[in-house]
Amino acid sequence: MTNRGASREMVCDRLVVIGLGLIGASVAAAAREQGLCREVVGISRRSSTLELALQAGIIDRAVDQLSAIASELKSGDVVLISVPTLTVADVLRDCQNQLCGTVTVTDVASVKGNVVEMAATIYGKMPAQFVPGHPIAGSEKSGVNAASTDLFDGHRVILTPVEETGLGHVGRIRALWEAIGAVVCCMEVARHDAILAATSHLPHLLAYALVDSLASGDEHREIFRYAAGGFRDFTRIAASDPVMWRDIALANRTAILNVLDRVLSDFTRLRQAVDQADQDHLIDVFTRARDARHYFESVSESPSMSLSKARSETRYRLAPGGHSRATLQVPGDKSISHRSIMLGSLAEGLTEVNGFLEGEDSLATLQAFRDMGVLIEGPDDGRLAIHGVGLNGLKAPKKPLYLGNSGTAMRLFSGLLAGQAFDVELIGDESLTKRPMGRVADPLRAMGAVIETAAGGRPPLRIRGGNTLKGIEYKMPMASAQVKSCILLAGLYAEGVSTVEEPAPTRDHTERMLQGFGYTVVREGSRAELRSGGGLKARRIDVPSDISSAAFFMVAAAITPGSDILLRHVGINPTRVGVLNILTLMGADVQVLDEREAGGEPVADIRVRYSGLVGIDIPTDQVPLAIDEFPVIFIAAACASGKTRLTGAEELRVKESDRIQVMADGLQVLGVDAEATDDGMTIVGGPIGGGLIDSHGDHRIAMAFSIAALRARAEISINHCNNVATSFPSFIELARAIGLQLDVEDM
Ligand code: S3P
Repeated sequence: MTNRGASREMVCDRLVVIGLGLIGASVAAAAREQGLCREVVGISRRSSTLELALQAGIIDRAVDQLSAIASELKSGDVVLISVPTLTVADVLRDCQNQLCGTVTVTDVASVKGNVVEMAATIYGKMPAQFVPGHPIAGSEKSGVNAASTDLFDGHRVILTPVEETGLGHVGRIRALWEAIGAVVCCMEVARHDAILAATSHLPHLLAYALVDSLASGDEHREIFRYAAGGFRDFTRIAASDPVMWRDIALANRTAILNVLDRVLSDFTRLRQAVDQADQDHLIDVFTRARDARHYFESVSESPSMSLSKARSETRYRLAPGGHSRATLQVPGDKSISHRSIMLGSLAEGLTEVNGFLEGEDSLATLQAFRDMGVLIEGPDDGRLAIHGVGLNGLKAPKKPLYLGNSGTAMRLFSGLLAGQAFDVELIGDESLTKRPMGRVADPLRAMGAVIETAAGGRPPLRIRGGNTLKGIEYKMPMASAQVKSCILLAGLYAEGVSTVEEPAPTRDHTERMLQGFGYTVVREGSRAELRSGGGLKARRIDVPSDISSAAFFMVAAAITPGSDILLRHVGINPTRVGVLNILTLMGADVQVLDEREAGGEPVADIRVRYSGLVGIDIPTDQVPLAIDEFPVIFIAAACASGKTRLTGAEELRVKESDRIQVMADGLQVLGVDAEATDDGMTIVGGPIGGGLIDSHGDHRIAMAFSIAALRARAEISINHCNNVATSFPSFIELARAIGLQLDVEDM
């Protein structure tokens, strides 16, 4: 959703656009259409351009130079410089001579380094009034005729303010872009230029060079006659304005040369591979590129409208009510999906995976293994083919491994990478960067690993390669499957035997899967141990549906009168069934049907129907077995009669959010009697009202409160819901299938 079309406040008094090309004219047209300022003035040297702009209703007033209007401009007015990059200096000189220091000035040039340098030289230092900017939008069309009021809808605009830039001026320019539908972010000048050199300037150079070299050959008519879609797609941007691109090529020389040199050397290598019929190199490059392209489509930030929309933060709005009658299959298990990539990559041979969770967390793991040189085909509707490289076949990644929101990935990676020959850095998103990693770094150090963390044992983790690890016997201070798995994975590379003892049973997917790959893990009571020196043999993996995702729909059925939900093919590993046990203790009508085994994991269909729930004291032995399901179990408790008490669950405070506090806060917003304690919560069931909840970007909190809408008496809105895609990309669709009226809007 964009902001356009809403009734709005004025952003500035007068908007003066210097240069009525595609960008300038589109800003003017959008601002005028939206009524964002009292007057839009266009400046162009060409009277024909000014006439066209007036006729098309793009501007209110036309002048041929800044001096004709400069004396009228004052604080609250905006001058937008939208001329070819190498002409910006002349315009800045006019601005410096003619404008008073309170007028806000901005530009739209594609290169920021030289603009900032020019401004500093012309003014003596960077003037506070100048906000360098760059809209990542455009088209191969140019000129006032191509102006479009929705050119910026959902597109990014990068502002590169420097230390001297006035905050008030930045705020005004941000408001202007946002009001015409853009998504604004700020960035350092050099970073902007390096990124744009790679993502925009280089592709233009390649397109121009290709078309030019084909066009200058004798046979060019023939070639163009038969050129099909691929040629057209690849060269579309060679129809862009040559003057503009000459200017950009010169203005961003250094950054463009850096990336061009890299690509030229890759080309040389590719030429050699073609020449020498080096099939392996060709398949490697093409597969990696194809997969990186898929990954880019699915999770990366993109200037395209649809993707940038997906990345701007979202709010869910839920009308009260729903029927909770359906047969559903929720996506694949997240824990098993991560592990399938890890062990498949380290095995010898081809591992085929079915039912892989195409959520952002497991996709981040997949990409990280590609970054370490593993060839992985897919995902294609949950199917993957992993060409394992063996335990010692990983390659040093060229950049830090980005693990998104995933604590599981970071903790398991740290074990797996602590004994490699190469250095590696593990980074993540804002939420992951706050999570404790000392719990894995400490025992790994005791094994001989060299790991640096940020203050407080937080990410990023820098792991030094080339160290010999030694097996340890580790008694875990907390019940954590991630810590256990980390030690076992490090144990694959450590001398001797590595043993982990857990204070309570936690999910055992790592042990099961290692055994499935033919690696012996000895399990006795609360201990699991393995000896290094073995190998993993590729196999087929069927990932069952995630019980943690199914839990939302179990609770949906348990709290909605008249409900009946059948969940197909759900993993019911005994270390994960706490939610079934707790709901049953609360009086829910839960049936586990057709129990069977799939790929070393027990699965079943689960049917849940409504029956009035009662509050209980949740047995502490169920806590690790339901650790991810408490947000939605709290919703069940809010709908139960009487009091539900949870203790022994302090681990909930260090999940993707502090799930005790965030859930208690949200329940209180809805009028539920909920009290957070150090290690749990007390909830007295009762009516559920409406209100605005902050999920703190925690996927399971967002989904839990969505389910609460089934029993709410008024609308529930939930902020920061993007991360639902980390574990449950089809949640919205399935929520609607049980009658929830869920709308998604930009925040
Ligand atoms: C997981 C273990 C659990 C769980 C997480 C997934 C795993 O974390 O909360 O969502 O896949 O090993 P802890 O080990 O921190 O309990």
